[in-house]
Amino acid sequence: MRVAFVGKGGSGKTTISALFARYAASQGAPVVAIDADINQHLALVLGLDEQPEPLGAHLEEIKELLRGSNPLISSAAAMTKTTPPGRGSRLLSLDALPYTVATPHGLRLMATGPFAEEDLGVSCYHSKVGAAELLLNHLVDEQGEYVVIDMTAGADSFASGLFTRFDLTVLVAEPTRQGVSVYQQYRDYASAYDVSLAVVGNKIHSPDDVDFLRSHVGDSLLTWFEHSSAVRALEQGRPFDLIDLEPANTEALSRVLKQVDAQEKDWERYGRQTAEFHVRNAEAWGNSRAGTDLSLQIDPGFVYGRLG
Ligand SMILES: Nc1ncnc2c1ncn2[C@@H]1O[C@H](COP(=O)(O)OP(=O)(O)OP(=O)(O)O)[C@@H](O)[C@H]1O
Ligand SMILES: [Mg+2]
Repeated sequence: MRVAFVGKGGSGKTTISALFARYAASQGAPVVAIDADINQHLALVLGLDEQPEPLGAHLEEIKELLRGSNPLISSAAAMTKTTPPGRGSRLLSLDALPYTVATPHGLRLMATGPFAEEDLGVSCYHSKVGAAELLLNHLVDEQGEYVVIDMTAGADSFASGLFTRFDLTVLVAEPTRQGVSVYQQYRDYASAYDVSLAVVGNKIHSPDDVDFLRSHVGDSLLTWFEHSSAVRALEQGRPFDLIDLEPANTEALSRVLKQVDAQEKDWERYGRQTAEFHVRNAEAWGNSRAGTDLSLQIDPGFVYGRLG
């Protein structure tokens, strides 16, 4: 199952991604976290001193790996970030995801690599996130195992099909007008593509804060995290164990996990959307750049959701 954390800058995407990844791992589940944020902070919060190998630096190798012996993809160079898997492609189980490093708390981390704010919307950013999108397109993950994606703030994930690659998208929202300002945009995209969206409040101080959130997002409010002194300790570099987390916040993590588990994997929809975004990408710029019709890369006989 895949869960992505999105929201305004500073809302707590990285913090909650890290807490959730650690929580799921503490339940004995296999977990891979992906840092797809502008500022690559997830490694630090997950207790690593060094960054994993950035996916963006290995885009060609990743394409070569995933292409496998798919006869519809003539070369790695012919692959775009939206090229879907087909018969012969290399499909990956969670434990086969490349370029991950083990963190001290029983999960693995992958990172797109850093990019600058001004890269957003340009090809350098897209090729980095594109590496993650390709890997997700070729991943066959199961119930009870988790990919946790710390997304970049803002709407850039809508520029590609990336936002349809998750089983659940969690919008992290502070109880402020700024905090809820992107909700409507996400909700509109989510409903147009049949994407599951839940809102999780963060840095909550009082019942009034919860009321504020509820008045803006209604029943989409799944749960909320209180302002946490344990998280502050983590941020200050002091030792942090999940057991130190306030019970209400641990309960919130458990709610998010239950919601992820409650999602039904719909591989048929997944395949349809993969093809849809590929055609759109091909028509927008891929075909003219490649000089061929990239939509011919779609294998109509391919069945999603099965390894090998
Ligand atoms: N529940 C919480 N209690 C206390 N502090 C929190 C909580 N959630 C997040 N913070 C703090 O708020 C700050 C921003 O959090 P974080 O870095 O997770 O946000 P972000 O959405 O990933 O930001 P960016 O958009 O910059 O990537 C950090 O200092 C973090 O420690
Ligand atoms: Mg962050």
